[in-house]
Amino acid sequence: MRILIVDDEEVLRDVLDAVLRREGFDVLSATTGEEALNYLDSSEEIDLVILDVMLPGISGIDTLRAIRIANPTLPVIVITAFSSIDGAIEAMKQGAFHYIPKPFKNEEVILTVNKALEQRRLSHENERLKAELSEKFSYANIIGKSEAMRKIFDLIRQAAPSRSNILIQGESGTGKELVAKAIHHASPRARNAFVTVNSGSLPPELLESSLFGHMKGAFTGAIATKRGLFEVADGGSIFLDEIGNINLETQAKLLRVIQEKEFMRLGSVDTLKVDVRIIAATNADLQKLMADRTFREDLFYRLNVITITLPPLRRRREDIPLLVQHFLQKYSEENRRIVRDVTADAMRVMMDHPWPGNVRELENTIERAVVLCTGDRITPELLPDYLRYPTRTDSPAMVVPQEGISLKDAVSNYERTMILQSLELANGVQKRAAELLQVKPSTLNEMMKRLGIHAKSNAVAEDEVAAVES
Ligand SMILES: Nc1ncnc2c1ncn2[C@@H]1O[C@H](COP(=O)(O)OP(=O)(O)OP(=O)(O)O)[C@@H](O)[C@H]1O
Ligand SMILES: [Mg+2]
Repeated sequence: MRILIVDDEEVLRDVLDAVLRREGFDVLSATTGEEALNYLDSSEEIDLVILDVMLPGISGIDTLRAIRIANPTLPVIVITAFSSIDGAIEAMKQGAFHYIPKPFKNEEVILTVNKALEQRRLSHENERLKAELSEKFSYANIIGKSEAMRKIFDLIRQAAPSRSNILIQGESGTGKELVAKAIHHASPRARNAFVTVNSGSLPPELLESSLFGHMKGAFTGAIATKRGLFEVADGGSIFLDEIGNINLETQAKLLRVIQEKEFMRLGSVDTLKVDVRIIAATNADLQKLMADRTFREDLFYRLNVITITLPPLRRRREDIPLLVQHFLQKYSEENRRIVRDVTADAMRVMMDHPWPGNVRELENTIERAVVLCTGDRITPELLPDYLRYPTRTDSPAMVVPQEGISLKDAVSNYERTMILQSLELANGVQKRAAELLQVKPSTLNEMMKRLGIHAKSNAVAEDEVAAVES
């Protein structure tokens, strides 16, 4: 960090020079405003200016004004004679970061300098994040710059224009619905309907009648003829959410729509033709459902022409700061607040959390923090306790119950919790988990064997193929 001192008094310059150098700063000095402005015009990188208001030649205030015009984000700390309150007020009006009256204590200067530089660093960081957000790393409101998310963006771009059906997989809260909408809106079908069907929440008959429609009198309660969602979505896309919950009978009918592009309303014998693209989503393991024979293999292969597998948030932690910034903006606007950023401590808590509820959980966390926030930064106190004290809630209670407890079992339980957590933090990489626990990898391995914790040997490989096109 380089600081420019502008003062005509040699003694003062020397004192400041010595104090700041001792703190590790690089120091330049100028005796007049003209000289200072020359420095700023040259290619010298300067991070902060300390400026005496009483200068020969062009005045300190004029120099300040010129600096603010040339470089509005460069912080300027002004030094004023104790008697010159007016000078101090004028300097603050002209955008000085702070003023220090003479005579001053060295600590006061150091403190103010560090504060100004910290503020500058934060505002640079914010600018950078905002620029990133608006340019490269969002696609149709989907935020992410991790390798895994870039692959997802590529996949969406490739898949959108095609006619193929798409299967989106991923844990709860990873953005499956967001991706489905993005695909529709980037497709030639964008001008037609995007219809969402929550296959999980309806009983089978209702699901069928809402998908395919029904004739008057087709079943008790069918008082009028009704169009199904496949008709509504004609020319557009239908989003079948929670596809894993559909029963076998309805699966057979779906298969027919996909294969023949035709179907019948319940209670009707007329076949209707439609042109609908199916985007299906699931957080269930369809392979397992197929093995259990609760999901039809032929339907799976029809849906699974293109698969998009959304990575859980804990496998792409580098996206967390970007998502935090995005949700800060969103909820600040919604709540008419100005919450600009997150303290380093709060960010650390969020970087360490495993986010089982993925982006939805992160979004809810930020919304809550913004609502509770009274200042302009999110501090750790605004985060829920279970984020801040993970071990307290996750670890077995450290109490001896009335009936007594086996110390050996309690210790094993504790060890198991710690090991599972560090494996989680380390994305399953045992060597890293051992580092986190400050034990040798071989020790961790022995402990895992003793405690019956199975290594996920594919933990890393699985990440690398987060998005696979079949
Ligand atoms: N990459 C992302 N960028 C910005 N917002 C996201 C991202 N991923 C998810 N979200 C937001 O998180 C919330 C949950 O996303 P969404 O509903 O798409 O998840 P889902 O995978 O369908 O979850 P579920 O399986 O529980 O239905 C939404 O508010 C969504 O806007
Ligand atoms: Mg969803």
